[in-house]
Amino acid sequence: MGASDLPIGVFDSGIGGLTVVKQLKKILPKENIVYLGDTARVPYGTRSKKVIEEFALEDLRFLLKRKVKCVVVACNTVSALALKKVKDNSSMVVFGMINPANAKALKTSKNKKIGLVGTRATVGSNAYKNIYMKRHASLLVPLVEEGITKGPELDIFIKKYFKDFKGKVDTLILGCTHYPIIKKSIEKYLGQNITLVDPAEEIAKEVKKYLKDNNLLNIQKMKGKTEYHLTDLNPRFLKTANNFLGNTNTAISFKQVAI
Ligand code: DGL
Repeated sequence: MGASDLPIGVFDSGIGGLTVVKQLKKILPKENIVYLGDTARVPYGTRSKKVIEEFALEDLRFLLKRKVKCVVVACNTVSALALKKVKDNSSMVVFGMINPANAKALKTSKNKKIGLVGTRATVGSNAYKNIYMKRHASLLVPLVEEGITKGPELDIFIKKYFKDFKGKVDTLILGCTHYPIIKKSIEKYLGQNITLVDPAEEIAKEVKKYLKDNNLLNIQKMKGKTEYHLTDLNPRFLKTANNFLGNTNTAISFKQVAI
């Protein structure tokens, strides 16, 4: 088995990273993926750097044991607080959510007034460069996980968290795995003067470029398979997971693992 046949390893604090899997599958349909979501300990975004680093290393070790060809940190919080730690402890190439999103935002912004929304930890981290305005939107994670992905209840929180950006920035980084799911409602509220950057789309493009440049693309004829692993099979997550993958027809099967 050559390196190109190995799966891409993806981890996140929970099921949010499935929004990254969705983008990877879209542009790299032949790749096999091994996903780990640490649902037993989600959220990470409310925790300290030290704890986020510890959890991230455990997630990483799980993927390294599975033999993967690269590691995708599909969690903005881990990418912002612990990417160096993960890279220092990995023999593999590791991708994080921050740089590709930051680069896209700089390219997109005309006035270089870039906004950032994310978890408390991400927003407090200074991992992003050239950010004009930032704020956490902590309640959006539990809302989305409760399946509140559109409608008046969601709109109240969108207004609360996004109103300060209006008229101030022309580009806004959606720096949390859960926000792409409610992108339409955010777009509707902000209007056309603010362009949204989805880090999940940007990291997927970066992974594709890396695999291509290094002859690591899987050249099999069939569509790739994804193995989904969670540290807790809570029915609440299982119910919303399909939503994150944007895939409502196929039932996904998750395996419970200890890390
Ligand atoms: N996956 C996290 C992120 O992208 C959101 C959920 C959490 O706080 O763990 O920041």
